[in-house]
Amino acid sequence: MASGKYNYSNFTDELRARLSVVDVVGRVVPLTRKGQNYWGCCPFHNEKTPSFSVNEEKGFYHCFGCGEHGDIISFTMKHNNMDFKAAISELANQAGLKMPDYKPRDPRIVEREESLFDICERAAQTYAEKLFTDDGAHALAYARNRGFSDELIKKYRIGYAPKNNIIANKYANSRHLIDSGLCRRSDYGMYDFFRDKLMFPIFNANGKIVAFSGRSLDGSEPKYINTTDTDIFHKRKTVFGLNFARDAIHRANRTIVVEGQIDAIKMQTNGFPETVAPLGTALTEDHIALLCKSNRNITFCFDGDGAGQKAAGRACGIMMPFLRDTSDVRFAFVSGGKDPDEILKTGGVDAMRKIIDDAMPLVDFLWELANKNFVVSTPGGRSQAEKFLKKELEKIADPDLKSEFEKEYNARKFNSWHKWKKNNSAVNIALPDVDAITKGTLIYIVNNFPELAEQYMEFLGTLNIDFDGVAADLTFDKTAAEKYIVSLKIQRYLEKLNIQKRELTAQLLGGDESVRTQICAVDSDIISAQEKLDKLMNI
Ligand code: UTP
Ligand code: MN
Repeated sequence: MASGKYNYSNFTDELRARLSVVDVVGRVVPLTRKGQNYWGCCPFHNEKTPSFSVNEEKGFYHCFGCGEHGDIISFTMKHNNMDFKAAISELANQAGLKMPDYKPRDPRIVEREESLFDICERAAQTYAEKLFTDDGAHALAYARNRGFSDELIKKYRIGYAPKNNIIANKYANSRHLIDSGLCRRSDYGMYDFFRDKLMFPIFNANGKIVAFSGRSLDGSEPKYINTTDTDIFHKRKTVFGLNFARDAIHRANRTIVVEGQIDAIKMQTNGFPETVAPLGTALTEDHIALLCKSNRNITFCFDGDGAGQKAAGRACGIMMPFLRDTSDVRFAFVSGGKDPDEILKTGGVDAMRKIIDDAMPLVDFLWELANKNFVVSTPGGRSQAEKFLKKELEKIADPDLKSEFEKEYNARKFNSWHKWKKNNSAVNIALPDVDAITKGTLIYIVNNFPELAEQYMEFLGTLNIDFDGVAADLTFDKTAAEKYIVSLKIQRYLEKLNIQKRELTAQLLGGDESVRTQICAVDSDIISAQEKLDKLMNI
């Protein structure tokens, strides 16, 4: 990942993208979330009440007591009394990245990058002009047919790369033409990489054109070709549409990720300006890191086909290490082999909004993945699903969040993998349902001690409880939890015996003498059960 390609300024961006300021500061300063920010006692001056705030979203800390402020790098420098390079190295370590070899920025490289931006900009102008000439008539007709208005063509700077070598001819004198990816060299000279394509410029985060994606117009494959990586364009780290979506992402407080760039354009211009798309490939870790830097609430919107399902599973796996307890990550699927572009065209914004609103939270999606990919009706399948979930949850950085996921899934496993519900109980006398407090306590126990749940499954199954409910707020250890279950089991048994005794007594009073011995037997059962209970409770 990190290689000699980096100079430090790229690398510090990478570190800021990879590391959360709350995590970096939180390693050494205990922080508590209050409202938008995290708060703790300032490590740079002496204080007893917290006036040191950390803002995850902005990546900054600020002390209202002494005025210290900065980002992860200045924090690491100051706190450890390190110089810049040592701090970078420490943070690289925390982020699991290799330190780049430091190379001062070579003026020739700077000059080259600038010339690459320049070539891309001028090529975009050339393509844009060509779209409105005779050569580009079929491309313009295609664009119009796909619903691109003139206004939209202008905004996204859509163009047409003609069949001839227009860039190779026009910019033959540019020294870095090959490096720009727009032209290639053959035995017969230079030729254009993009020919007879509808051209979509790809912008970097600052709105500069760094590459192009060209769509085939004659049905030939591949459907899209993209500029291969250059010094100013790294496909794995570029998200299409982010330059246009940045403000909207902030306002909407979420990012929508779709699969295709035309989908992203259509979403952005039809009520979902916070939409972006990865480029040409499946989503990468770098894409997610980049998105999480501006907002950790992401709704993935995949095509409803098998490929879309697979891509969603991958995205979920990549997303796990980036989860925070404040993140809202969801998965939406466009069903019927369609994509967002087609939904917007046929069903309009409302149809699309419904799909986005119905998106499934990550906790449910991951659970569904485990249940779909393995045969959980068999012990082997459950064991595989168990391993899969464990592996995914291992990736969650926040231990509290991880533990909450574990508890949640323990309850779900108990509820739906083990078909204990109301099937094997030998109760012949109906007892009233347990009260809410008992129910909350049992849910707590099942969440925290799944092995007890397994052990007492049969008894728990007689209680008619939906274990998806809210757990009581308790701190039992396993011994106390087991005691609770056993005592409840005896109490329920006692209740049952008492009901039995009342019924028999009624029969006796009704003149049925034959039940007398039964009453005696029930009485002695009551006494021994009560003794057991007293012993358990140390009475
Ligand atoms: P799709 O096959 O879903 O295409 O690929 P699409 O976006 O619906 O395209 P249209 O609507 O037919 O024009 C999704 C994305 O995968 C990349 C592109 O970025 C595309 O937007 N892709 C697809 C390629 O890079 N090359 C291809 O040959 C196909
Ligand atoms: Mn499409």
